[in-house]
Amino acid sequence: MTPRDVTLTVNGRAYRGRVEPRKTLADFIREDCGLTGTHLGCEHGVCGACTILMNGDAVRSCLLFAVQAEGAELRTVEGLADGDRLHPIQQAFWEHHGLQCGFCTPGFLMTAVAFLRDHPHPTEREIREGLAGNLCRCTGYQNIVKAVAAAAAVLTSTAPADETRRAAAKKGARGRRRTPEHPRRGRARRTAR
Ligand code: FES
Ligand code: FES
Repeated sequence: MTPRDVTLTVNGRAYRGRVEPRKTLADFIREDCGLTGTHLGCEHGVCGACTILMNGDAVRSCLLFAVQAEGAELRTVEGLADGDRLHPIQQAFWEHHGLQCGFCTPGFLMTAVAFLRDHPHPTEREIREGLAGNLCRCTGYQNIVKAVAAAAAVLTSTAPADETRRAAAKKGARGRRRTPEHPRRGRARRTAR
């Protein structure tokens, strides 16, 4: 296959690569961008470990080709924390023991980010349904559900309705988005190659 150029943005930084069209977005993120926080479990769209945000939507990066993400704005688990300050969802997973081995955790976190943006006041049932596409071999899910509920409370009480506003905006606006809780304007850009 003839390699093609791909240019996209991950966590506010621009990356460019030359890839075969068959290269998955997950592999591009891990190999070309060097962002190995996005994990690959099944590589068949079943486990959710590879979940990232693409233009604000939670997607399985193992089911997309890198060339399909041309021009997209991606967010991976590496983009959640603000320096040493964990994202409220990361903090909640820490405090409520929402992980054991941690392999599934990046996917759960990114799924939860999108879920809580769209469901700022979820019921436990809604949380379980929202996370149903992610598999964990370790935790039994109970503490993951507790963590997401705790993060929802934190986000709606202290983090400024940004997530709520984002949920409203999502209904009418798709495309380029900034992280509401940790905007990264003006950050230096770089290319992977
Ligand atoms: S690695 Fe993508 S869904 Fe399992
Ligand atoms: S914490 Fe080990 S697979 Fe989920």
